[in-house]
Amino acid sequence: MLTKIIRLDPLNFSLEQLQEAINLIRKDEIVAFPTETVYGLGGSAFSETAVRKIYKAKGRPSDNPMIVHISDLEMLSSIVNIIPENIRKLCERFWPGPLTILFEKSEKIPDIVTAGLNTVAVRMPSHPIALALIKTLRIPIAAPSANLSTRPSPTEAKHVFNDLQGKIPLIIDSGSCNVGVESTVIDVHKGYSVILRPGGVSLEDLKSFLPMIEVFNNKNKEFSNDFKPLTPGLKYRHYSPKAEIILVEGSKKFLEEKIVSLYFKYRLQKKLIGILHTHKNIQIPSEILNDPKCKMIYLGLMDSDIDTNNLINANKIAEGLFSTLRAVDNQKIDLVIVEGISEKEIGLAIMNRLRKAASKIIKE
Ligand code: TXA
Ligand code: MG
Repeated sequence: MLTKIIRLDPLNFSLEQLQEAINLIRKDEIVAFPTETVYGLGGSAFSETAVRKIYKAKGRPSDNPMIVHISDLEMLSSIVNIIPENIRKLCERFWPGPLTILFEKSEKIPDIVTAGLNTVAVRMPSHPIALALIKTLRIPIAAPSANLSTRPSPTEAKHVFNDLQGKIPLIIDSGSCNVGVESTVIDVHKGYSVILRPGGVSLEDLKSFLPMIEVFNNKNKEFSNDFKPLTPGLKYRHYSPKAEIILVEGSKKFLEEKIVSLYFKYRLQKKLIGILHTHKNIQIPSEILNDPKCKMIYLGLMDSDIDTNNLINANKIAEGLFSTLRAVDNQKIDLVIVEGISEKEIGLAIMNRLRKAASKIIKE
């Protein structure tokens, strides 16, 4: 199959330019499209045929359910059984945007979309192309991230092309996604509220609406027997470049010391080493800086002295995270020493992805 790429300006596109994607989705085909978080691989949420194609193209395990994307609250009413009042308020506050909420699914959504669960994960993306696509189709779109299973999520059309070339008919390219990490997935029911996956909407922002919300962790025994969140996605390997990732969590001084000791350890094994850092003024011996087999990779704002703990910089780190992990592979780096950052705001989602990508975590 030939994979066609259509380039669209998110701020200046016409519905005619979306027609090919619309026609394909109406015919139970699948299309990669941009959202504000990452690119999605979408098909009609009402079509078993389309959803089967999505699982196949991604190589996704069939017990990992998909997010259904909608363009308005009327569409939500058509795919869920009930919308509790507190959740409606949450939707009104955070949608369109990077928040995915679990609902009791209606019969209109085939079981294959939710991998047999009786809940469906729904979100209204804020990206103008995603919204226009769903609105014009008048069909909700089931879409996971448009990467091959286990690979970092795609934040540019070329990432999708590298992973899915020849497996899907169309990619809508509208440049890079500005959030850079996937949506926050939450489960609110029986008086509990938990984050199943941290993402583009922060814990801090959610707390202003749901003061008791916390991040779900499988080992947390505080949840009683009547509330067992199902988190099918958690057991799978994720976000992994081919390179081995060693995550260092601690102060700047600790990081600097660890970089030196890890560098000397792995240099002996003749590995191509990457050092992914978010502090501009990191102090590293010139022997390391001048070694052609060691690449310094800076992630964050280029044009200011704002430090790592600052929210603006954290947003920039999130935006570039997955594309940096992919670039590491393109440069054939064997091992990356990665600086951990503060878990404030979007930092929580960044650290969640880095911990999943890491084969080793060193803490101060
Ligand atoms: O930002 C995003 O969320 C992107 C864009 C394309 O919208 N989508 C995305 O989808 O990241 P995906 O499939 O890569 O991740 C969806 C996550 C998975 O961890 C999945 O297990 C979980 O949501 N999920 C989906 N339906 C669920 C359900 N009914 N119960 C619990 N978890 C669910
Ligand atoms: Mg994914």
